[in-house]
Amino acid sequence: MNKLNSIILASATIFLWLLMINCSKKNVPLTMPEDNTPKDRIEKLLQEMTLDEKIGQMTQYNGFWDATGPVPSGGDSKWKYDHLRAGKVGAVLNVSGAENVRKMQEVVVKESRLGIPLLFGLDVIHGHKTVSPIPLAESASWDLEAIKQSARMAAIEASARGINWTFAPMVDISRDARWGRVMEGGGEDPYLGSQIGKARVQGFQGTDLSAHNTIAATAKHLAGYGFSESGRDYNTVDVGTSTLYNVILPPFKACVDAGVSSVMNSFNTLNGVPATGDHFLQRDILNGRWNFNGFVVSDWGSIKEMIDHGHAADVEDAAIKAVNAGSNMDMESYAYVNHLKKAVEEGKVKIEIIDDAVRRILRIKEKLGLFDDPYRYCDAAREKELPNHKDHHATALDIARKSIVLLKNEDNTLPLSTSQKGIAVIGPLASDKNSPLGSWRFGSDDGTAISVLEGLDAQNIAYQYEKGAELITKETNFLEEVRINETDKSGFDAAVQLAKESEVVIMVLGEHGFQSGEGRSRTKLDFPGVQQDLLEQVHAVNPNIILVVMSGRPLVLTWAEENVKAIVQTWQLGTQSGNAIADVLLGNQNPCGKLPMTFPRSVGQIPIYYNTLKTGRPGPIDLVFWSHYIDESNAPLYPFGYGLSYTTFKYSNIKVSKQADTDAGFVKVSATLQNTGKKAGREVAQLYIRDLVASVARPVKELKGFQLVELDANESKSIEFTLSKDDLSFFDNDGKLIFESGKFEFFVGGDSNADLKESLEIE
Ligand code: BGC
Repeated sequence: MNKLNSIILASATIFLWLLMINCSKKNVPLTMPEDNTPKDRIEKLLQEMTLDEKIGQMTQYNGFWDATGPVPSGGDSKWKYDHLRAGKVGAVLNVSGAENVRKMQEVVVKESRLGIPLLFGLDVIHGHKTVSPIPLAESASWDLEAIKQSARMAAIEASARGINWTFAPMVDISRDARWGRVMEGGGEDPYLGSQIGKARVQGFQGTDLSAHNTIAATAKHLAGYGFSESGRDYNTVDVGTSTLYNVILPPFKACVDAGVSSVMNSFNTLNGVPATGDHFLQRDILNGRWNFNGFVVSDWGSIKEMIDHGHAADVEDAAIKAVNAGSNMDMESYAYVNHLKKAVEEGKVKIEIIDDAVRRILRIKEKLGLFDDPYRYCDAAREKELPNHKDHHATALDIARKSIVLLKNEDNTLPLSTSQKGIAVIGPLASDKNSPLGSWRFGSDDGTAISVLEGLDAQNIAYQYEKGAELITKETNFLEEVRINETDKSGFDAAVQLAKESEVVIMVLGEHGFQSGEGRSRTKLDFPGVQQDLLEQVHAVNPNIILVVMSGRPLVLTWAEENVKAIVQTWQLGTQSGNAIADVLLGNQNPCGKLPMTFPRSVGQIPIYYNTLKTGRPGPIDLVFWSHYIDESNAPLYPFGYGLSYTTFKYSNIKVSKQADTDAGFVKVSATLQNTGKKAGREVAQLYIRDLVASVARPVKELKGFQLVELDANESKSIEFTLSKDDLSFFDNDGKLIFESGKFEFFVGGDSNADLKESLEIE
C-alpha cells in the first residue's frame, strides 16, 4: 500500500469513526416520525435511556455559574458541565437570558448522547423585568382577569429571556402574618386562593403550552407550609384532617384541574412526615385521587433536609424515601444523581418508579415543544423587545391600582384635591425605588420602581419632603437580612418641623421589601425600627395624617387606626407603585381592593382568620369562662374581605331559592346592591354560607362566591350567585366530599362581617 492509499484509508477510518460517534449522539431536535404521537416519542426515548440518563432527567441543578463556559475559581461548574454532557441533568434553575440559555441548551442538545433538552426554571413570582404587585397585593384586587393578565405578562417577559418553567403560583393558605411568605400567596381563604391559583396557572400557561410565550407553572408547596408553627419559616406543621382537606388542599386541586404542569413539595413536616417524603400527599392524593399527570419537583434541598428532620438516616436513605413517595425531581440535594442508581440496582427503588418520574418530566418537555425546538424560548429579538414593554407597564399599573385597600377615611380626608396646599410627605419609604419591588425580583433591576414622590411629581402635585428616618441602615441583597434602624432619629426634628408647618401630612411607612418573603418571619408586626416613634411625634404636632402603609403582610395598625385620619394599605406594588398610589391619593382611581387576610389588633391574636369554628363557649357571657382574651377583643382590626371606597354601597333584598337538583345550579342567591355615594365605584360583592349542623363542624362563615360590580353614583344592580351542590358540601375526615342536608345560612355583603342573611332548609 502506497502512502497515498494509507492516507485515504486512515481518513476513511476517521470519517467512519466520526460518523459512528455522531450517529450514537442523536443530535436533536428529535424529529417526530409522521405517524408517531408525542407519547410514542417519549416511550421510545425511555426505552433508549440508560439508568444514569433516566436519573439525570430527575435532577435539577442551580445555575449560578457562567453559562458560557469558563470555570469560576473554586466553583463546581466543571463537573456540572460534565454532567450536562453526560445527560445527567434534566433541568436547571436561575439561568436566564436568551443567549445564556441557548448556550447551555446547546451543550445538552449537541453533546449529550440523546440530546434531551433542559427545562429552565426560575421564580417568576410577580412579573419579571416589569414587576407586578406582590401576590398577596394582587389577591387584594380579587380581580381574576387582572391577576391572569399579570401572570401572562410575566410569562411573556420571562419566556423571552429563555425561561420555560416558573415556580409559581404559591398557593399556600396562611392565617399567620408572622410568616414572611404570606406575601407570596393568595391569603387566608381556600375559595379565593383556589380561584387565584387557577387564574395564575392560566396566565402563565395560556391555552397552548408549546407557544413560545407561555411557560410551565408550578403549584407550591405541597403541603401545609403556610401553617408553620408560630409563623417561623420551615417550622413544623401539625394540622388536623379537616383543615388539611378543606383549607390547605383545595387550591392545589384547583391548580391541578387547571392543568398545572408541576407541583413543588415543601420543606416542612406535616404531622411528623416531611412533605418531600410523604407518600400520602404525593402519591395517594395528588397522583391518585386527583389524577395529576405532571411531575413533582422537590423544594431546594428538601430531600436531604429529611435527614435533619429525623426522617432519613443519610442522603441515600433520603433519596429512596423521596422518590418512592413521589418526588420526581431533585432540586439541589444531589441525592438522586449520587444515590439512586445503587438504590435501583439493589432493588430498593423499582425501575417503574423511575420510569414514571421520567415519563412525567418528559411529557412536560414535550408539551412545551422543546423536542421540536429546544431553542424555542431563546429569541434575541423577543428578548430585546418584550421585557419592560410599555404595554406591560400599563398592565402592572392597572393591577397595582386595583390592589390598594383603603382601610380608613375619616371625614373623607381622601381623595386629596389637586389644589390642596401645604402637603408634607414624610417617611423613609416615600422616596424608595427598591422596596416596592418586593423580595422576589430576580428578573428586575434594582431601583426601578416608581417611588411615591415620583408618582406625585408626575401629577404635578406640590409637596415638601422629609425622610424623617432611614428604615434600614444598609441596603442589602436578597440573601441577607436587612439591618433595621432602631436608633438614629437625627432626621426627626426636620420632619416634625415640616409637619407643624403643613396642612396635611402623607406618611409613608412600613416594611422594607426584604423584610417579608422567604426566611423573613417576624414576631412583632409593628412598623420596624424607629418608624412608630416618628409617626407619634409627627402626630403630636399635626394629626391630619394620611398613612400610606407599604408592607408584605398585614401589620398591626391599631394605634394608627385610633389616631390618624386615613390609612391606605399599598403593600409592595412593583414597578408602577408610586403612580398607582398617587392615583388613589388623588382620586383618579377609586380604591376597590379588599383584604385577602385578616388584620389583627395585636400579634397575640394570631392565627386569626374569619372562617373559624364557633367553639363551645362563643360568648360573650357575664362570667369569665368563655372563649376570649382578658386583655384584647376577639375581633380583628380589619376583617377578611374588608376595604373602603370613596363611595358607599348598600346591600338589600336578599333572596335564596333551591333550584333543580342538578349539581351545577343547586341554590340561587340574589340581592340588590346600590351605590349610595356620590362617585362611581367598584364593589367586590361577597357571598358567604354557613352550614349550621354537620358531622364535622363547619366554620361560622365560608366564602363561596364573589363578583366585581361597577356602579355609578346612585345606581342599583341586582346581583346573583349560583351555587353547586359541591359548594355546599365539605370534606369529611377521610377526605371524602359529602353533602349533608339541613339548614344553611347565606350572607351577602362587602366583607366577611356581612350580616344581610337568609336561611334555607335543604333536603
Ligand atoms: C423556595 C421555593 C423556590 C425555590 C427555588 C426555595 O427556597 O422555597 O419556593 O421556588 O427555593 O428558588
